[in-house]
Amino acid sequence: MGVKEQVEILTNKAMDGSLSLEQALDERLNIINCSPDDIKRFIKAHPPASRMAPGIKDLITSLQARGKAIYLISGGFRELTLPIAAYLGIPKENVFANRMNWQWDDETGMPTRLVGFDMSEPTAHNQGKPQAIARIRQRNPYNTVVMIGDGITDLEAVQTTGGADLFIGSGVVVERPAVAREADWYVYDYNDLLRTMQRYSVAMVGSGAWACAAVRMIAQNTQVDDAADEFVDDVRMWVYEEDFEGKKLTEVINTTHVNPKYFPEFDLGPNVVAVPNIVDAVADADLIVFCAPHQFMHNICKQLVGKIKPGAMAISLTKGMRVRPEGPQLISQMVRRLLGIDCCVLMGANIATDIGREQLSEAVIGYDNLDAAQLFQKIFQRPYFRVSLLPDPVGAEMCGTLKNIVALGAGMVDGLGLGPNSKAAVIRQGLVEMRAFSKALYPSVRDDTFMECCGIGDLVATCYGGRNRLVACEWTKAQLAGKPRTFEDLEAELLKGQKLQGVLTSNEVQEILKMRGWEGQYPLFTTVNRIINGYLPPKYAVDFVAGAKYHIRRPGTEDEEI
Ligand code: NAD
Ligand code: 13P
Repeated sequence: MGVKEQVEILTNKAMDGSLSLEQALDERLNIINCSPDDIKRFIKAHPPASRMAPGIKDLITSLQARGKAIYLISGGFRELTLPIAAYLGIPKENVFANRMNWQWDDETGMPTRLVGFDMSEPTAHNQGKPQAIARIRQRNPYNTVVMIGDGITDLEAVQTTGGADLFIGSGVVVERPAVAREADWYVYDYNDLLRTMQRYSVAMVGSGAWACAAVRMIAQNTQVDDAADEFVDDVRMWVYEEDFEGKKLTEVINTTHVNPKYFPEFDLGPNVVAVPNIVDAVADADLIVFCAPHQFMHNICKQLVGKIKPGAMAISLTKGMRVRPEGPQLISQMVRRLLGIDCCVLMGANIATDIGREQLSEAVIGYDNLDAAQLFQKIFQRPYFRVSLLPDPVGAEMCGTLKNIVALGAGMVDGLGLGPNSKAAVIRQGLVEMRAFSKALYPSVRDDTFMECCGIGDLVATCYGGRNRLVACEWTKAQLAGKPRTFEDLEAELLKGQKLQGVLTSNEVQEILKMRGWEGQYPLFTTVNRIINGYLPPKYAVDFVAGAKYHIRRPGTEDEEI
């Protein structure tokens, strides 16, 4: 409108605090005195793209890609602010700005002349920005609100209760000393904010088959460089060091990108770094993924006490539990207890080699802390690996733990040469006992968790394709052939260093059942345990009701009747 200088003087007075905002707005409108056509002409002549400070669009895009909500709160006018919001991808319901009042032509029904502005908008007054933020907070449960702005009215956002939590002053367009003095952080280039946005570093603790399949997916996700890039590309993987064909396993992994001992068919990705020292592996990690066989987890956690980065979050992929004199402890509970950090779990029908082959698989993340679960979902989710969130972490972990006992029973059925009907009977009874036992120990466990991929899904996959099934099947065949072999022996021969979880878990669970006098209520668990410990022959796998009632003689004890 040719009045830029006069308007600028008024704007500056309002922004450095020497003139009230209401007065500045009023005087500016009088000077501008525009029509709706003037506004249209202005927007056409000066489209938003031509008026953006460098880096602001990228900053907003990357914040939104990280799930942050962006609002535009302006003491300017809606008519001029909305096109800017549209260009920046900010939804119009997230825009707070002043409204112009128009004189309307009764004949045409069209606005003709500016007659003032709507005083009812919070942004029409000083203290309007904290008020707008208070409204936003009423409608949304945000933990933290950050205000970025360059004027005194922006700074007010943090000077009033209920407003923003932090103020970042901007000197990108104009530096106002009164604002710069008070800002929590002051920047002259939005790219500085973009550069310093946190990127999470991920560490994997474990390097067996599942740990390798999981780290391969994580590395595929952290490698992506887009606006949402929230993760450091390199993923450090702690490897329990051992020799492989005369070389250190970590060296082989770091030169070939393959773990030839535990996951030989698959390239883990160039950004997976094998680290032999566990403390070095996790020292800088914000997100720690635990995936070691459960019998090693207590020792692993003990080595990490006091060595974790403050604020780090964890997830456990380990299936198993620990039994102490005071009672059972799930692995996620152990991590939480020993390391003092939040720990979600990821459980599902996840046979490692099938995931390496990128065959469709499902998992749930059981969580207490939704923010952590959503972050972990981003590092695991792949087109072939569907991850959903489940607010029952204990139920999910109990499923992953207990299905390994049922898989031993299923393996025995296969070893006995029986068909699908018998195996289905074992799987069905197994699911019933998994649910009953989980709920008896932890009453908050939800029924529907057992219908998820971590429940029935994992149970079916493991009973058909898992290692527990395989070893139990061969163990049963050896028994029937009159050439009995031990589980340890078969584990070493068939799994070549990979570990069975079912035998240990069966003994751990049985200890709880005995302590609580529950053996009779869990006939399949009890019978499987008696078979693997040599008290009953394998044929009882399909006669588990009798197996659990049978008189057994434990060495060095009186006959015991259940
Ligand atoms: P794995 O059984 O393939 O390998 C055993 C791992 O234990 C190796 O990395 C080995 O280096 C390590 N190890 C050996 N001795 C050790 C010690 N003293 N201390 C620490 N580590 C030692 O491992 P995995 O398949 O990654 O299994 C980890 C967990 O994931 C288990 O609880 C398992 O039930 C679960 N899981 C496995 C699969 C699968 O398909 N393999 C799928 C889902 C869940
Ligand atoms: P196994 O350890 O029996 O192979 O089970 C793997 C598994 O947990 C699949 O989800």
